[in-house]
Amino acid sequence: MASVAGFLVFLSLFRISIPKSSRMDKRIKIGKPGSFPLNDFTYMAAYKIYVYRDNSGMRVVSSNCTHLGCGIEKSLEGFQCFCHGSTYDKSGNVISGPALKALPWYRLYKSTEGQVIVDMAKIVDSEFKLKANP
Ligand code: FES
Repeated sequence: MASVAGFLVFLSLFRISIPKSSRMDKRIKIGKPGSFPLNDFTYMAAYKIYVYRDNSGMRVVSSNCTHLGCGIEKSLEGFQCFCHGSTYDKSGNVISGPALKALPWYRLYKSTEGQVIVDMAKIVDSEFKLKANP
């Protein structure tokens, strides 16, 4: 009985000791749309993402290969992983393995200051775009 009570006290202390700020906030500000070139993917190493912008809007995709997580690079078809050779098209779909899953695309928002915010906790369809003039 005493050990159960001790365990519960331990759990309550542990819960209290975790500050809310330590929870993973996966939203990042990446800048204003105009800071990204048109019709191309821009690599942002700090966040391990590629940002695509065209006249109709912006999209963001992970730069981590879905096989074992190596960084991918742009290629003529879309993206390529040099670790084990997986290739992806420009929508992030697997062209050749060993990767089996498509690259994840992230939800985008615009802040009140016009900054683009990427929510890396929210996966969206590869066609999702933050409209250029919402
Ligand atoms: S980690 Fe990319 S193909 Fe293996």
